[in-house]
Amino acid sequence: MRELGLVNGNLVDMSDSFIPMEDRGHQFGDGVYEVTKVYNGRCFALRPHLDRLYQSLRAIRIPATYTFEELVEFHELLIKESGITEGAIYLQITRGVAPRVHSFPEQVVPCLTMSIRPSGPINPEFKERGVKIILIPDERWLRCDIKSLNLLSNVLGKQQAKEAHCFEAVMVRGDHVTEGTSSNFFVVKDGVIWTHPATNLILKGITRSIILERLAKDLDLTILEKPFGVPFVKGAEEAFLSGTSTEIMPVTSIDGVAVNNGSVGPITRKLQLAYARLIDEECHR
Ligand code: PDD
Repeated sequence: MRELGLVNGNLVDMSDSFIPMEDRGHQFGDGVYEVTKVYNGRCFALRPHLDRLYQSLRAIRIPATYTFEELVEFHELLIKESGITEGAIYLQITRGVAPRVHSFPEQVVPCLTMSIRPSGPINPEFKERGVKIILIPDERWLRCDIKSLNLLSNVLGKQQAKEAHCFEAVMVRGDHVTEGTSSNFFVVKDGVIWTHPATNLILKGITRSIILERLAKDLDLTILEKPFGVPFVKGAEEAFLSGTSTEIMPVTSIDGVAVNNGSVGPITRKLQLAYARLIDEECHR
């Protein structure tokens, strides 16, 4: 088993692959990315991840130079050649390599890089007992719906969470709670699940969509996509995060205040179980 990279379709060892200095990903963050989880040697929810990749490319006007089938093939190749069965695949496409000017270069070919790394299961204690989060101001730009490489606010926010001994920082823009630095955020109030609508102010997470379109329906749970504020969150019965790496993560403390007396609520638990079942159905059968 070994970590492995792929640059413009060619397999490379991660330690001896070099990206040109003038790749616009380095210099401008001019690119987009996706992260997909691998369970039992199979990619989970690869199609929606690739659909979102094409949407992100369109949004920042990078031409799509790889077909859906090619990208699927690259994911499968990385899994096969690395021997990694439990891991994550990172994919990024930048506008390409060109002398540094802000406007789009005339002739430039997008640059695709991918890597696979093993990832152990999430700390079972976190999934079982829940995690702590902090609330921080959302200082990002106004196109958070694009999965772009520009993650400086997210990086600073996650570090702030780490220094506060918390799992995640959830952001607040004006009166509304938006999302985590690398996850979507949900609260339960009067038995109804609330999450920020999929506007330009959040990333429309694949895990979020699975919860909305599949799990909640199967479990007969009511979900509202409607903005809510900090007092609402502090009065919530349950709270949880969702994301490719985060899966469904119960939140039991917000800014040092316990949610549901510090224990994981029943709706979060049901969703966690249903999500695990779905992974099982898609990747283990
Ligand atoms: N993060 N919101 C933000 C800001 C994110 O960065 C992510 C994912 C999500 C959840 O999206 P999804 O369910 O599609 O993973 C929400 C990835 C995993 C990352 O940056 O590593």
